Formats: sequence, C-alpha cells, structure tokens
Amino acid sequence: MNQKPEPCVLLIFGATGDLSRRKLIPALFSLHCRGLLPGGFAVLGCARSKMSADEFRAKMRKACTEFCNPAPSDQDWARFAPRLYYETGHFSDLSLFQRLNFALTKIDAAHHTAGNRLFYLATLPSFYAAVIQQLQAAALVNQKSGLPFTRILIEKPFGHDLETAVQLNNTLHKVFREDQIYRIDHYLGKETIQNILVFRFANAIFEPLWNRRYIDNIQITAAETIGVENRGGYYEETGVLRDMVQNHLLQTLALIAMEPPISFESEAVRDKKVEVFKVLRPIQGEAEVMRATVRGQYGSDEKGGVAAYRQENQVAPDSTTPTYVAMRVFVDNWRWQGVPFYIRTGKRLKQQYTTVVIQFARIPFCLFGQDQVCARIEPNRLILRVEPDEGISLSFGIKVPGTETDIDNTRMNFNYSSLYNGVIPTAYERLLADALRGYTALFARKDSVEHAWRFITPILDAWEKIPSPVFPNYPAGSDGPAAADQWIREDGRAWYSPNR
Ligand code: BG6
Repeated sequence: MNQKPEPCVLLIFGATGDLSRRKLIPALFSLHCRGLLPGGFAVLGCARSKMSADEFRAKMRKACTEFCNPAPSDQDWARFAPRLYYETGHFSDLSLFQRLNFALTKIDAAHHTAGNRLFYLATLPSFYAAVIQQLQAAALVNQKSGLPFTRILIEKPFGHDLETAVQLNNTLHKVFREDQIYRIDHYLGKETIQNILVFRFANAIFEPLWNRRYIDNIQITAAETIGVENRGGYYEETGVLRDMVQNHLLQTLALIAMEPPISFESEAVRDKKVEVFKVLRPIQGEAEVMRATVRGQYGSDEKGGVAAYRQENQVAPDSTTPTYVAMRVFVDNWRWQGVPFYIRTGKRLKQQYTTVVIQFARIPFCLFGQDQVCARIEPNRLILRVEPDEGISLSFGIKVPGTETDIDNTRMNFNYSSLYNGVIPTAYERLLADALRGYTALFARKDSVEHAWRFITPILDAWEKIPSPVFPNYPAGSDGPAAADQWIREDGRAWYSPNR
C-alpha cells in the first residue's frame, strides 16, 4: 500500500449539500488537524447556490462547529480556511467546467497541488452522468496512468437496479479507467468493519473455526432508531433493500465470508470479496422470495407521538415502501454450505446498534445430567459490535460457584473506548485519506456492485408482484415486525438481542 497521500485539489460537486456539511468537510478538517493531509492540498467546492469563497468558508466553519468533536479552534480554522475555494454554476453548463478548469490551475499554482485532481460526486444521482460527461468535454480528465492523476469518488446509490448500475458503469468507463473510480460505501470506512479482516487474519485461533463445521448461523443487524428524517422523497424511490442491503450489509457479509486474500493489496482483497457475491444463492421467484424475506414498514409509536412512515414528508399516504427487512442468505461454497446468514435492518426500531454475530454450533452432547442445567447452556457467540460501544465479545458457559453443578453464560469483552483514548476516526476520514493515496481496497469495484445488484434485483422484482403485508406492521420504537420473530423461530433459531 502506498502510504503517502499525494498533493491534489479535491473538487466537490454538491459542496453545499448535507453530505458535504455533515461528513466531508468535517472529515477533511479532522485530517488537516491530525497532519494527515498532504502539504499541497485544497478543496474547490461547487454547487448551484451563489456564494463567494468567504461565504463558503463561513458556512463550512459552521458545519465543522456542529459536526466536529472538538469544534474548530480559531487557530486551527485560520490554517484550514485558506484551503477552501468555491465556484457557482449549473452542472449542465459547459462554461462552468471551463471556469472550474481555470480555478483549478490557479489553485495548483497557489497550493502546489501538481495538477492532481480528485472529483467528488456528492450531488443527487440524477446529475452524475451530466457531471461525468462535462468533465470530459472540458478536458478535465487525464486518462493516462501515472502523474498527474485524476480520480473520481462517487457516492451511493450506485444505480437503482442492475440495469441502471451497468449504465452508470458504462458512462464512467467512457471517461475513467476502473482504477480511477472510487465508489464509496461508507460502511467500508468504519474502523470496526475494517477490523473484521484484521480480526480474522491477524489471529490464528478463529480462522480454523470459521466455517460450516463450527458455525450454526451468522446474524448481521443494522438497527436504527431514526426514521427517514427529511429524506422521504429519496426513500420512497429506494426502500430498505437498496438503501442498506445492496451496499452496506452485503459488503459486510462479504468480509465475513470471504476466503483469505493472498495479500492486503486492493485487488487481492477485492477479488476475494467478489467471489462471495458470485456464489450468493439467488433468491428469485415469488415463492422463494416469500420464504426468504420478511418486509416491514413502521407505524406511529404507541402514544402516537412519532410520525408513521406514511405520514413523513414526501411519502405517499398509502406507500408500500418497506423500511425494514429480514432475510436469509446462503453462500454456496465449501466453507459456508448450509449456514444461514440472517440480515436484518430497519428504521425506527427500539435500539440503535449494528452488530455481526457469529453463532457457533451447540455442544454435541450435554454431560451435566439434569435437563434444566443442560437447557441453560447457550451456544458460544462471537459478537462484533460495529456501533455503538465498538468492540468484540465472546460468550461461553461457566460453572456457577456452589456445591451443585449449575451453569451460567458469561462474556469476555473488549471495548475500543478503553484503548487509544477512545478516538475512532470517522469512515469518511479513512476513505478520503485512501483516495488521496490511491488505495482502493475499501471502495466497491465495478464487478462487486453489479453482482450485488444481480442478487438484489430479483427480490425487488418479486416484492413488486407479491402484495405487501398490511403496512404499517411494526410500531416505531419496537423490535420490528412480529412476523420476523416468528419467521426465524420457524428456522429453529432466535434473533440476537444486545440486551441479553
Ligand atoms: C446510509 C443510508 O447509507 O447509511 C441511511 O442511506 C442510513 O438511510 C445510513 O441511515 C446508516 O449509516 P450510519 O453510518 O449512520 O450507520
């Protein structure tokens, strides 16, 4: 891995939007304060709102005050602010791109950025194609390998289904080589998600157990307490499968299920991940989709104080868009044959947590005589806590002290907060730093995005045909639809709950 970030100008399209304010500029500011930005570095923001560079700087300072911890000191801000520039315009207007070209050249001279360019598409997806084409038309893309480099970062959603994802890839490939394209899945930038590979491959004791002989099932849960907030319009088009599963949760599954790569180089890691996507057992046809998935949509809470999904802004009053899904996925290879991966995610649930639970098989035989004692023995569980309370725990059975043989279950626990001063960099800090140094392992490659859509699209198609359950089918603040509990019980299993 090339550790050194290269000097460059980061040109953000959609620089006044939510993503930029909440995530990108705060992440850059934090990298700046930790000395992790290259000496030659500047940001050129671009959006439709008219404003001067100084107004942009003031707006971004406000954003950093709100979203950085700690908020910027006057001194730190004074050193960061001169790195920010701004240009107004419409993405369909070629003259904007000519002005950007001119501004970039001036910034190169002022900040020694050496002609290197990182473009960030933080706009609505409907602008992606226009921006990509205009970048080419204005000769802003250097397609040759070597320096100066041109790279493009692109936010999800990456397409709406397989067909549109392929179209977007084709549009990108007319202008950029694959190694210039950085498709962001911010989950991959999370420390605890990256730790999955380190945990698996920096320890000798787990890998021999990491297979169908010892693992009964795996549960990947991303439970959110928030609703769709001010994104009702986007969510109506998207729904839970596109929003969370096609990208974040399948990428997480791939890290859990993949074979050891031959090295930690980007392509070696990405090759092994894509092998998992290729062998996901298809879930298609209405009957199969009914068996393998449970859909849900949140209603109001019991007191009626929280808006039901159908009452959210820009949401149809009879919307059938799901905000919850539980699904059973199989990975058809030697390692995982027969092991269900349960994926579950939803909005407006009781508790906010993201975990991966590796549930080991039950003991083959109970030595301890009495049925009540044997019934208390729980299978071992390895719990990777992605958020919050980042850490790992391993549960096992112990003897209750006393003259009788009684059994209890306990946990060995590791918390990130107890080490490294509890400081965990945000996902965007890691991803932006990687894009600056040209390390692509944590970005989704063309083939993995398309395979993920190939898997998800038939489920979306079947859901369109099968009448949806009576929605809403779970109250805000609950654990999700009762049907999801019943469904996993029918498999002879139960959901992991962080409170047990
Ligand atoms: C986004 C989804 O990609 O991820 C959101 O669009 C979701 O709906 C978010 O809330 C979850 O990410 P995080 O980092 O807050 O867990």
